Amino acid sequence: MATILVLHGPNLNLLGAREPDLYGNQNLDTINQGLMDICKKKDCGLLAFQSNSEHALIERIHTAKEEGTKYIIFNPAAFTHTSIALRDALLAIDIPFIEVHLSNIHAREEFRQSSYFSDIAKGVICGFGSLGYELALNVALVELGHQQ
Ligand code: DQA
Repeated sequence: MATILVLHGPNLNLLGAREPDLYGNQNLDTINQGLMDICKKKDCGLLAFQSNSEHALIERIHTAKEEGTKYIIFNPAAFTHTSIALRDALLAIDIPFIEVHLSNIHAREEFRQSSYFSDIAKGVICGFGSLGYELALNVALVELGHQQ
C-alpha cells in the first residue's frame, strides 16, 4: 500500500525537455526515482502518477481514497489555474496534500498567480525546481511520523 501519492498534471511528462530555463533539466522519471529512494530509506511507500487528462487525475484521486493513501503531493500544472473539478475531488477525499510548483507562479503571468488549490492545501511550495518535491516529501514524512 502506498502511503504517499505524488501526482503530476499536464505537460509534466515533458520535464527535462520542456522550457528548461523555467522547469529545470531533470526529467520526471529522475524526480520520481529520487522521491522513491528517499521514501525507501524511511520505510514509507510512494506511488507516482502523471496524466495530461483532468479525468484521469480525478479518477486517480478517487482511487487514492480507496487505497488508504495518507498524503498527496500534487503539482496540478496548468490545471492549478482552471480546475474546480480537481479541487472538488481533493475536497471529497479529504486526504492532506501539498501543492508544488517548480516555478514561482507568483512571479509569472497574472493568470498563473491564482490557484484553485492553495487555500485547501496543507501548504504550498513553489519556485525551487525539483527540490520542491523533496521539500514537500520531507514535510509529509514528518507529518506521518516517518521522520525522526
Ligand atoms: C507549473 C506552473 C504552471 O503554471 C504551469 O502551467 C505548469 C507547471 C510549475 O510547476 O511551475 O505546467 O505547475
